[in-house]
Amino acid sequence: YTQESKATEEKPIFKALKEYPDLKLGEVMGQGSFGAVYKATLRGAQVAVKRYFFNNTQGNQGIEREVRYLSRVNHENIIKLYGTMVDEEGKTLVVMEYADCGSLHNYLYDNGEQKPNYIYTLALKWMHQLAKGIAYLHAMKPRSVIHRDLKPHNLLLTNGYRTLKIADFGTVTELATVMTSNVGTASYMAPEVVCSKVYTEKSDVFSFGIVLWEVLARKRPFYHLQNREPFAILYQIGIGKHPILEDVKNYPNVKLLRYVIRSCWIIEPKERPTMELLASCLADC
Ligand code: ADE
Repeated sequence: YTQESKATEEKPIFKALKEYPDLKLGEVMGQGSFGAVYKATLRGAQVAVKRYFFNNTQGNQGIEREVRYLSRVNHENIIKLYGTMVDEEGKTLVVMEYADCGSLHNYLYDNGEQKPNYIYTLALKWMHQLAKGIAYLHAMKPRSVIHRDLKPHNLLLTNGYRTLKIADFGTVTELATVMTSNVGTASYMAPEVVCSKVYTEKSDVFSFGIVLWEVLARKRPFYHLQNREPFAILYQIGIGKHPILEDVKNYPNVKLLRYVIRSCWIIEPKERPTMELLASCLADC
């Protein structure tokens, strides 16, 4: 550990709620196996607060360590973590940056409220931003951060839908097994994750390829399977199946885009490109 990381270790980030007397939780924005995410205000500013179901005493060590590390993340395409605290019931709260246009998943599949039309160049801009954000996480020192759960649910939009920000990154290691049981997550898992639960930067690259396909094809991954139960999808991934490249069509540079997506899905993780290379490819697309 470097001098710098020692300094951040000493910064107290677990504070009693009374140290943030003006934190006010509002409506629930989303729920998962871990807990719920609330809209909230802190010192008059909009923030989002993730509140874990389990009590602080049981699970805080992992979260505290992770949030302390992740609070150093400073990138325009990643949701910033402001800090964590414990509420009156002993539950852990993680306070973070708020993104006001909802998730990419909502944009793609939620037909409720009025959203800007799908524009190809905007979609590519989002994917370029996503690639830059993941590349930043992978380059963190002293250890790289692997997201482990890239999917449109975890990608938030803001700035009038012009900016994409990665949320829920570094899915706290201790919670990883819980997360993988989530329905819908199966579709984004790399084959080596399915077969041996080995997460590396290159498993994020695989997931990135699925999201890129999904955004460009505007279809759900593995929509073509009759049986879309998670176990059935996991089986297909395990035997090397992936979404249909030909569903990406009608784009000026469709050949290049298919080539980029296919490179993310190479079975041997070492042969997949780095996120840095993908970000520079997408800058030119
Ligand atoms: N949903 C989950 N996290 C969020 C955040 N940080 N901002 C807005 N909506 C969210």
